Amino acid sequence: MKGVIANALAEMVKEKFGKEKWDDILQKSGFPKGTMFLPTQDINDNDVLKIINILCKELNISLQQAFDAFGEYWACSFAPKLYAPFYNQAKSAKDFLLKMDKVHVLTTKSMPGAKPPRFKYEWKDDKTLIMTYESPRRLIDLVASLVKGVGKYFKENLNVRKISPDKVEIVFK
Ligand code: HEM
Repeated sequence: MKGVIANALAEMVKEKFGKEKWDDILQKSGFPKGTMFLPTQDINDNDVLKIINILCKELNISLQQAFDAFGEYWACSFAPKLYAPFYNQAKSAKDFLLKMDKVHVLTTKSMPGAKPPRFKYEWKDDKTLIMTYESPRRLIDLVASLVKGVGKYFKENLNVRKISPDKVEIVFK
């Protein structure tokens, strides 16, 4: 997984729990204290998952709570700074989510070795969107958390639930 994901995780932990906590998590995951990841650098998926698992233990939270915290941080704080144009072009959570397939292709085009997740869209009725997630990483629970984060960013009360290992259902009010 690209370093940009680890960068966001590092910023979130440092901001909420301090730099020492992040260094502690890094060390327990087998990385030296103060390790910096380049945004375009490839980090082994297992290493990223190891960091997240240690983080859960250290902060005494479940994996789903960690995904929810990350989803909100990525969608509401980190990505709006780093990828402002995508936010400026979207008027609503719906607009934004419908662009996510293109956004992942675009933002990883110049990153050699990137394997971005892909999304397919299907409307169940005029308020209910089914987003199909395609990635060998099988992080559908993270997808649901990120979608909830997007709802928070646009101050919309979305109803989000996983309906299968590769699908989330989103009801727009
Ligand atoms: C401006 C908003 C966003 C940008 C620029 C962005 C960009 C990225 C990038 C660069 C990666 C790393 C890809 C790689 O390592 O090959 C990534 C991973 C990921 N993104 Fe996004 N993302 C955004 C929002 C979202 C949203 C809203 C969702 C959910 C609908 C999402 C779902 C994921 C997932 C699940 C991964 C982990 C990799 C995988 O499952 O294959 N992202 N994203």
